[in-house]
Amino acid sequence: MLDTFPATAAIDDGELSIGGAGATALASEFGTPVVVYCEQTLLEAARAYQRAAPDALIAYSVKAFPSVALLRLFAGEGLGADVSTLGELEYARRAGIPGERIVMHGNNKSDEELRAASDAGVGLVVLDALDEVERAAGANLRRVLVRVTPGIEADTHAAIRTAHHGSKFGLPPEQAIEAIRRARQAGLEPVGLHVHIGSQLLDTQAARTSVDWLAGFAADCRAELEWMPELIDLGGGLGIQYVDDEAPPAIEDFVGTLRERLEHEWGLHGLPPPQLLLEPGRSLVGRAGVTLYRVGVVKHASETLTYVAVDGGMSDNPRPQLYGARYTALLANRADAAADGSYAVCGKHCESGDVLIERVRLPRPQRGDVLAVPGTGAYTLGMGSNYNGVPRPAAVLVGAGQARVIRRREAVDDLLALEV
Ligand code: LLP
Repeated sequence: MLDTFPATAAIDDGELSIGGAGATALASEFGTPVVVYCEQTLLEAARAYQRAAPDALIAYSVKAFPSVALLRLFAGEGLGADVSTLGELEYARRAGIPGERIVMHGNNKSDEELRAASDAGVGLVVLDALDEVERAAGANLRRVLVRVTPGIEADTHAAIRTAHHGSKFGLPPEQAIEAIRRARQAGLEPVGLHVHIGSQLLDTQAARTSVDWLAGFAADCRAELEWMPELIDLGGGLGIQYVDDEAPPAIEDFVGTLRERLEHEWGLHGLPPPQLLLEPGRSLVGRAGVTLYRVGVVKHASETLTYVAVDGGMSDNPRPQLYGARYTALLANRADAAADGSYAVCGKHCESGDVLIERVRLPRPQRGDVLAVPGTGAYTLGMGSNYNGVPRPAAVLVGAGQARVIRRREAVDDLLALEV
């Protein structure tokens, strides 16, 4: 029942706790909705990556949840950061991530972003377009990767596939070769290749295929350019379990498979073993986060459909609407009570589509109950909005029974402060 919750989640006397802190007490102290992050789960994920690939650079993909506190925690474990905008770069800098451990992405980097990367001493900038070559050189950048799209359809939602033919990201193979050639001419140092095939991957198939493909492509580069990648950046992509019927590979297994494959395929082509870079986002922070909502209206809409309305919704988690994402939930204050039926959990926004969970079995919910939705650590708050003038929730970090705010709740005044 707690599989989708953080590692420290427990139920005692019917009450859910995370990191030793009771969920109802957290909801009362910090208000709702609130995203509670479990420190131990974050650290365990970071350490699992480090153990699985001790010689690799593990760069946290900041987009999953831009947070200075989380970045500091990860920096303490030796992780770097993958950023794709000026804003994300600033989060990484504010957290004190050294430039050499920052990788900068973006399919449409502005000159300002390229210059900022150069000023920040960003270790690697990933070229994503031919016209970026000269612009990167003009911004005084040096070490670059070239992002290549192998034409692989990852088995995930179409919106989060990135390595298929026709992707807006990266360069098809012939153009990638051209980018490496031009980069060398422009005085840049192309040190390797980047591939990110998609997100929320629930098996290793597509990732393995992409490593195989990359080895062939690296051999083509050697033949055409007398150039070989010293570094291979395999992006992120490992999924998490959101609901009972999903079973993603463990971090150790996913990374272990990629490393074995890399070694094997590179060997087959007689290429020297490259340095590895990984950019996990969701698998570092997703499971660590739980959103606590307060139940308001409970409405019997039809004989078969009862809505449980919570005090948030698509403004703090747009994933169900965007990707048909599925979640589960439990009543944190009556976590061991028997379910009496299936309920739809909806938000408070003015759209019928504002449904967080289509069906979940719960004990009969009542106004004032605390509903806990696990697996909300990645791509929720970071993709939130102020739709309907709703301020975004706070985020709290819990560990050893202590909780501290790592991102304060927005107030309506924050929204009004933008008005001129
Ligand atoms: N590297 C690159 C170049 C990426 O584009 C991404 C994610 C990552 C790393 C991290 O991938 P992860 O390990 O988190 O799968 N908003 C969507 C996910 C979008 C992913 C975008 N790129 C969602 O909520 O499912």
